[in-house]
Amino acid sequence: MENNQVIINTDIEEGTINKNIYGHFAEHLGRGIYEGIWVGEDSPIPNTNGIRNDIVEALKNISIPVIRWPGGCFADEYHWKDGIGPREGRKRMVNTHWGGLVENNHFGTHEFMMLCDMLGTEPYICGNVGSGTVQEMSEWVEYMTFDGESPMVNWRQENGRQEPWKVKYFGVGNENWGCGGNMRPEYYADLYRRYQTYVRNYGDNKLYKIAGGANVDDYNWTEVLMREAGHLMDGLSIHYYTIPGDFWTGKGSATDFTEDEWTITMQRVLHTEELIKNHSIIMDKYDPDKRVGMIIDEWGTWFDAEPGTNPGFLYQQNTIRDALVAGVSLNIFNNHCDRVQMANIAQTVNVLQAMILTDGAKMILTPTYHVFEMYKVHQDAKKLAVEINVDSITSGGAVIPQVSVSASKDKDGKVHISLCNLDNHADATITLNLRGIVDPIHVAGRILTSEQMDARNTFEAPNTVEPTAFTGFTVDGHNLRISLPSKSVTMLAIES
Ligand code: AHR
Repeated sequence: MENNQVIINTDIEEGTINKNIYGHFAEHLGRGIYEGIWVGEDSPIPNTNGIRNDIVEALKNISIPVIRWPGGCFADEYHWKDGIGPREGRKRMVNTHWGGLVENNHFGTHEFMMLCDMLGTEPYICGNVGSGTVQEMSEWVEYMTFDGESPMVNWRQENGRQEPWKVKYFGVGNENWGCGGNMRPEYYADLYRRYQTYVRNYGDNKLYKIAGGANVDDYNWTEVLMREAGHLMDGLSIHYYTIPGDFWTGKGSATDFTEDEWTITMQRVLHTEELIKNHSIIMDKYDPDKRVGMIIDEWGTWFDAEPGTNPGFLYQQNTIRDALVAGVSLNIFNNHCDRVQMANIAQTVNVLQAMILTDGAKMILTPTYHVFEMYKVHQDAKKLAVEINVDSITSGGAVIPQVSVSASKDKDGKVHISLCNLDNHADATITLNLRGIVDPIHVAGRILTSEQMDARNTFEAPNTVEPTAFTGFTVDGHNLRISLPSKSVTMLAIES
């Protein structure tokens, strides 16, 4: 289409894109932690102290700022004391929520912290409110972060860790409206107030406390939490998954879908923006200075599990459609960085919209991984003011904009513009005005796209969807004429 107009105001900065928007979520679910990350020291798969080397190397390349762990629903069934000490002696449990797998607790606090160290990532610990005690949560924080003399510190040191860890992000429960206890917001707000009281700051370790937030458009939850406990939290979470079908009766296939389903998927991911706006209005009412961060600590596609796999393991393939969902979501989060302080894609390896899929010793990078790699330039950059006037496309009853955009300026003054063409068959022609920039400019681009809308990487053909150089633009002063192929995610880097 011909009518897409985009203005990037390169001289109008609108806050910082918190790097934590590029955060992750890794739960004890299916083959996410076990097999995907942790294989144990005795595994023939090359590892360092039990953690897969190939995964660490790949994840380092996308600069993950923060990882949320151990759940999810698992967090409210997890008892951290079962996951420390000599591994052979650790208590086994059944992961009832996720496929009835036996959890041997070999990946616990020390192992998670080791993973974070290897990746240069901050931990975000999610504590247990649903089935755990205040004392248990309080002692976990003491175990991890206290630097004095105490029973928990002695125990940590007996287990091989002298110095406390730095832990900033701490979640008080997960989905407490559902798997985390089926609570009413009034009840959870009171529990939040109580539990967080005993989640202490030790020494110079200052916690950023995150309250369990709403599911999708449960605005009443946000209202009650902000009203009753807003002053006691630093962040409030929200969960929203992109599901083209129906959560209970059929979410839709990850790989076998129609053009209409493609467009409906885009419509559903675009709904994220409406949710952010509406929850923000409520948060603004109680917190006009935007002190409390919106923490979108679960997001991504959720399709029917891959045929032939345990449905409780939530293993799904990942196509160029997932790449578009990632690109659009990250653009929306960037554009709302005044309130959105963190987002955690679900999940890192082998679960839902994963970066990496593994099969024994083999691993592949998904299209979503490549989007995270391309977009990492936005981390901690200044968000630029963008004006867009773009065409709409219609399919399957859904009417959506053809193009999604966000832009930032990094500390060296380089401008990055991420552009998604959501159309599954038509190119998008864009006139892009880089207002406020000094000519002449130099433009470089990278693109992730494919001919087929179900294109994906497989263990047999791992490099089918990969970023390539993008040259589909002409430069005229500070104006660009861009031709974006259908189904594409593009990153432009502009220097002047
Ligand atoms: O990410 C999978 C699950 O989705 C999480 O455990 C839960 O919090 C959410 O419902």
